[in-house]
Amino acid sequence: MTELGSVAWPPAPIRTERLVLREAEARDRATFIELLASSEVHAYLGGPRARDELEREIPEVPGRWPGGFVVDLDGAMIGQILLRRATEHRRAAAVGKVDLGYLFLPRAWGFGYATEACGAALAWFDGALPGEPMVLATQTANISSMRLAAKLGFTEVERFHAWDAEQWLGLRSPVALSV
Ligand SMILES: CC(C)(COP(=O)(O)OP(=O)(O)OC[C@H]1O[C@@H](n2cnc3c(N)ncnc32)[C@H](O)[C@@H]1OP(=O)(O)O)[C@@H](O)C(=O)NCCC(=O)NCCS
Repeated sequence: MTELGSVAWPPAPIRTERLVLREAEARDRATFIELLASSEVHAYLGGPRARDELEREIPEVPGRWPGGFVVDLDGAMIGQILLRRATEHRRAAAVGKVDLGYLFLPRAWGFGYATEACGAALAWFDGALPGEPMVLATQTANISSMRLAAKLGFTEVERFHAWDAEQWLGLRSPVALSV
């Protein structure tokens, strides 16, 4: 995965009804570690990373690159949205396309925050890189993620087997702009 490409970054913070999407800051470091060390968050993502290893390796200001949004609720990070270009991918249909990923703290699940935040990130993306499709890969057993993908407008390209599980590759076609 590589960075998005020719986009002005970071954009001004994006405000939704309840959330702000913004660039990562030093104060988010503990939450990044919490997210990456959480076995609940990584139940369908190959397992969590060791906390002590994360404490050593995560930079002072983590997660700063074009396409990496921190999702902020009332001044504190609750999740992360990742837009990265899939320069390499197990599935040919995804190669070269921008890939959406999302990780939210378990205590923030079940409130519609991921839908709200990803919707705003996709709207930003449609403006920043008009006409570009987007892909998303998730385990079919990850029901919350499958539901979120459908709400965001992704439709199935194919299912495939990898990392000892059935995976789903979804595609979101570029939004037709009205002129
Ligand atoms: C995938 C993930 C982001 C989904 O989180 P989520 O909170 O279920 O997603 P949503 O924001 O769509 O919230 C939907 C839920 O909020 C509820 N909700 C409550 N208030 C709501 C509101 N105001 N608006 C919309 N939905 C609301 C919905 O009814 C729904 O509940 P349900 O699942 O019981 O039906 C989360 O499970 C996660 O971070 N998982 C770990 C990381 C992961 O697996 N990522 C996938 C790899 S790309």
